[in-house]
Amino acid sequence: MASAAAENPAASDASAARAAITVIAAHPALEHSRITRRLMDAAAGVGAAPDGPAVDVRDLYHLYPDYFIDVAAEQAALGAAQLVVWLQPIHWYSMPPLMKLWLDEVFAFGWAYGPGGTALRGKDLWLVASTGGPEHSYHPAGYNRYFFDAYLPPYEQTARLAGMRWLPPLVLHGAHRVDEAGLGAHAGLFAERLRQWPEWPELEDLEPAAACEVPADARPAPGGEPAPAAAPALHGARQVRRTARDAHGP
Ligand SMILES: Cc1cc2nc3c(=O)[nH]c(=O)nc-3n(C[C@H](O)[C@H](O)[C@H](O)COP(=O)(O)O)c2cc1C
Repeated sequence: MASAAAENPAASDASAARAAITVIAAHPALEHSRITRRLMDAAAGVGAAPDGPAVDVRDLYHLYPDYFIDVAAEQAALGAAQLVVWLQPIHWYSMPPLMKLWLDEVFAFGWAYGPGGTALRGKDLWLVASTGGPEHSYHPAGYNRYFFDAYLPPYEQTARLAGMRWLPPLVLHGAHRVDEAGLGAHAGLFAERLRQWPEWPELEDLEPAAACEVPADARPAPGGEPAPAAAPALHGARQVRRTARDAHGP
């Protein structure tokens, strides 16, 4: 296990103190959730144990019901973390909409990537997801037509662009057919993995995080567009749209 710590700054920091884990949880209808809610509770339980990692579970749909994301607060939460977990149901082969908006706004040019964008470098990113489709549907002969891994490159490349190490995802397929015992076992596995991070055997073989350099001229020059109107005059959805557009994601 020493090699994981040697190659990954996040891992070596973790050995010195309680590991810091931030769970970004996004489920638009948590009251109907069978597995995501259970995993959120499991993560909070791990964080409540004094001898385990410190776990910050951020329920995006609870924090931002108006979709007005506090970018500074989210960036501070990520800055404090060594392991970032994205906990979500798969929606349309991707992430729920508030999580996508969170990504657009929080992973900003000059902060998460691009010149000076080093805030997330060396951290680990772990996708923990569930699907409605059973595992066999994610197959060339199944109705989802591709193996599940084929849907993951946008996630993995997002991690790479930010200089984060992409950990092997934990996925529960066919979530609404899994029985109570299966749900409990999956939550137990998730909790155990959180407690053990970064001491996971498979991390010994993982490449350390490598940054992708994005040149400054990959984005419109500051001032290349008319300056936005005075921010205090903008509220709600209009402000969100402006902020998302101005974020200029990759
Ligand atoms: C809007 C929407 C889109 C969905 N898209 C997919 C999908 O692309 N692939 C899939 O396998 N399941 C899809 N599902 C099913 C969810 O992934 C599944 O219900 C969820 O993972 C179960 O987790 P939960 O118990 O926490 O709700 C979708 C569900 C909704 C509501």
